[in-house]
Amino acid sequence: MGTLRIPLPYYTSALALVFLIGVKWPDQGWSCPPECICFNLQVNCQSRGLDNVPDSVPLTTRELILSKNYFKEIPPLEISYLHDLVYLDCSHNMIEMDGESSFPAAEKLIYLDLSFNHLTIISSHTFSELHRLVFLNISSNRLITKIMEDAFTPTRLLRSIDASFCGFDSLSVKTVDHLHNLHILGIKGNPLDCNCTFLELCSWLRNTFAVMDTKPRIKLIDSDEITCKKPAKLEGWQIFKAEDEVHHECLLHVKIMDLVILGLITFCIFIGGTVVAGMIGMTTVIYHHPVMKVGDESDEEEEYKIYASNI
Ligand SMILES: *[C@@H]1O[C@H](CO)[C@@H](O)[C@H](O)[C@H]1NC(C)=O
Ligand SMILES: *[C@@H]1O[C@H](CO)[C@@H](O)[C@H](O)[C@H]1NC(C)=O
Repeated sequence: MGTLRIPLPYYTSALALVFLIGVKWPDQGWSCPPECICFNLQVNCQSRGLDNVPDSVPLTTRELILSKNYFKEIPPLEISYLHDLVYLDCSHNMIEMDGESSFPAAEKLIYLDLSFNHLTIISSHTFSELHRLVFLNISSNRLITKIMEDAFTPTRLLRSIDASFCGFDSLSVKTVDHLHNLHILGIKGNPLDCNCTFLELCSWLRNTFAVMDTKPRIKLIDSDEITCKKPAKLEGWQIFKAEDEVHHECLLHVKIMDLVILGLITFCIFIGGTVVAGMIGMTTVIYHHPVMKVGDESDEEEEYKIYASNI
């Protein structure tokens, strides 16, 4: 006859659960930081003059809005506790990241707005802990001078990158061409150097547009407003207009380089030939000298014979 026996471990876990639900749950519901406004799973701390993330952000928060404050950094520990965080708006702060540090780990983060901050370099470290990231906005970080080629290697799911109004003069094709989900790219307002290297990005962008006529893979944000800063004669030119100009110069450049290389090769062959010919000549002279002597002797002998026969 079965009497229901609950093993002790289950019993304790059940008790723990009751404790959690009974005590912890309401506690979390009520723990909205006094500086912020909480609604459903959103915590909004916008424009509160904060220089630190409030410590009592509920652990179940899905959306966190920290924009328009004075943050210099985002505390890693607090963010990593927010296991359900999918949306984080840190725009209009003073966050500094120089390519050495990583943005705090948020394993489920999909949307990150870092526009209007003080980032300087985007490297493979910067977003290395955000593997689920889909939307990234780093626009208006005037101090960003470089986006490294491997900057987005850890964030392969990226669909949208807005890097408008930063301070970089070049962007390698390798930075973006491995992002197979990329749909939106913003690079306007950067001091772009429209040189031969830049041409690669232009043709990549063109090809990416052309893949599907009806539905281009990538939408360039305000493509008409993407302009060159350098060289001086192309300043203010829309990139695709400048492309033709640059194209000719780069072709010419290639031709001149070809000629120079060809000239060098010819010169080397000429010098090499001269040296080899000279060495062959010298060896011949050295080795043949005794022979010549022998010849000389035989000549004398001959002359002697002729002389003798004449006597
Ligand atoms: C990125 O942020 C800027 C400024 O906050 C905003 O104007 C822009 O629309 C955002 N870009 C995207 C793609 O949402
Ligand atoms: C093109 O410009 C960028 C940025 O100024 C520079 O890093 C790169 O070396 C240049 N490439 C060539 C071929 O001059």
